[in-house]
Amino acid sequence: MPVIFAKAPGKIILFGEHAVVYGQPAIAIPVNKVNATAKVYPNLEAQPGEVRIHALDIQLDAALSELTDDHPLAIAARLGLQAVAVERPPGLTLQISSTIPISAGMGSSAAISIAIIRALSDFLGAPLSPGDISALAYKVERIQHGTPSGIDNNVIAHQKPVFFTRGKPIEYLKIERPTHWVIADSGEKTSTFETVSDVRKLFDSDPSTYKQIFEQIGEITQNAREGLIKGDNNRLGKLMDENQRLLEKINVSSRNLEDLIRAAKDAGAVGAKLSGGGRGGNIIALSTAQETKNVEAALLNAGAERVITTILNKGRI
Ligand code: PMV
Repeated sequence: MPVIFAKAPGKIILFGEHAVVYGQPAIAIPVNKVNATAKVYPNLEAQPGEVRIHALDIQLDAALSELTDDHPLAIAARLGLQAVAVERPPGLTLQISSTIPISAGMGSSAAISIAIIRALSDFLGAPLSPGDISALAYKVERIQHGTPSGIDNNVIAHQKPVFFTRGKPIEYLKIERPTHWVIADSGEKTSTFETVSDVRKLFDSDPSTYKQIFEQIGEITQNAREGLIKGDNNRLGKLMDENQRLLEKINVSSRNLEDLIRAAKDAGAVGAKLSGGGRGGNIIALSTAQETKNVEAALLNAGAERVITTILNKGRI
């Protein structure tokens, strides 16, 4: 039996975080510079059906049967095995690693689940479609994160820019002109679960005010869809700034994030905002090809822990 490798990229949300939980659209893109990898190979010392999990990054080396029901790697592996429904799989080892920063809004948990499910289903000779893999990864996300919108599993499983509205068919964006992005990690760890719950409390305290804010974010995201396809930097930059102001109103920004946003803009970024759950994690800045190096340097100078640049290239759907 062959050795199988499966990779899944990181992701970043460009527009619409939080509002997406309330039925508004969001846009996210894959980030291929970071990824999760799962390798599956036959384990001749193991009994048929026995799965060993080896995750170097967290010093885990255990049999799947020893892991508790709520262990995220075990949930993904069990769902993957169940979906393939091979009666008696051979003994195997599942080796997992990832370069995607954890708890930083880059989709590390969804990417790890997706790499695991893809590698297991390929290894067992019953490759699952990106749609099926995305649905399984969503189940893992729900157990881990409460009420995720589903954007992470979709953008990562399909590896394409997505315009996503909960409960609606997903739209993949066909990019006509490239755009240049700079992602900076504030170094502040953040819990999406917490920020999403806090926003829920705000919403419950005054539904009509917050509904209006989410609708405004939804309009920005609708506008950004076209701007992103056309690579219209001016339009996108303004929309990012407006989206950031509304994220501040729902109390998910932070001093550190705002310092980074200012540094990026002073260095020539055309727009910048926080990305993901907020109160830490990343900011994303839109740059021009010429200014990318400046923006990157300014962000590091302003205290960013890590900066990743990525180009959203013209794409086929
Ligand atoms: O922190 P991230 O990138 O996983 O994104 C969270 C995005 C939210 O809209 C805040 C929550 C969600 O499930 O979409």
